[in-house]
Amino acid sequence: MERQSLAEFLEQSARAVVFTGAGVSTESGIPDFRSPGGIWTRMKPIMFQDYMASEDIRAEAWRRKFAMEREFSAAKPNDGHKAIAAMVSRGEVSHVITQNIDNLHQDSGVPAEKVIELHGNATYALCLDCGRRYDLGAIRESFAQSGKPPYCVACDGIVKTGTVSFGQPMPEGEMRRAEEAVLGCDLFLAVGSSLQVYPAAGFPLMAKRQGACLVIVNREETDMDCVADLVIHDEIGETLRPFL
Ligand code: APR
Ligand code: ZN
Repeated sequence: MERQSLAEFLEQSARAVVFTGAGVSTESGIPDFRSPGGIWTRMKPIMFQDYMASEDIRAEAWRRKFAMEREFSAAKPNDGHKAIAAMVSRGEVSHVITQNIDNLHQDSGVPAEKVIELHGNATYALCLDCGRRYDLGAIRESFAQSGKPPYCVACDGIVKTGTVSFGQPMPEGEMRRAEEAVLGCDLFLAVGSSLQVYPAAGFPLMAKRQGACLVIVNREETDMDCVADLVIHDEIGETLRPFL
């Protein structure tokens, strides 16, 4: 049987969900994590409990953040992001569930309420005690002077970028919204993720189990390829450009 094309899956779908990983942002100049040269091939992740336990480790985390900021802040949405935004604006895709923290789906025009950020967002910081939100500019200045990690001006709590680290609890609201979107979709399009980090990586299977079609677009093989209805091992920009 001739394998249906991505266009056919999209045509036949009434309610698709797109799920993205770092691979969708590499063509914008942001390295992913597990490809050769990826972030975890250059440094070890900082575990949440270590971040909470040690001021030196918090300083190291902020040093990394500001060192990588040049790559992040210059990044613009690429054709992969723009094609996904076009699918949302045409009403083909109800939500974009992303593991990415770079805000590029919002920057490409996906309405913020349709982006579900499972691992948070690196473009701002939060007090982990009172939830107060901080602009990174102010933190960058004081960190450049003192080399000390920031504390909350209101409650002296520990301040962290708005991202979810390994060992940190997943954001309940986003997980609930993602589950709702996955249970209501008839097509789940996983783009640019190695599908190795749970619980996020559980969503493709959840979609499959409730009867949705699963399409994976990823340069490398993933563990979910064997249950997918269509797998495209190719560059994301190239693959999604026709859907701009
Ligand atoms: N086109 C197609 N595939 C690509 C491209 C591209 N231009 N660039 C990268 N890829 C693929 C890689 O082959 C890889 O399999 O994208 C995948 C990215 O996988 P990871 O680097 O593991 O990133 P991701 O799946 O998002 O990681 C999940 O792990 O470290 C945590 O919190 C972090 O959200 C992240 C989570
Ligand atoms: Zn506070």
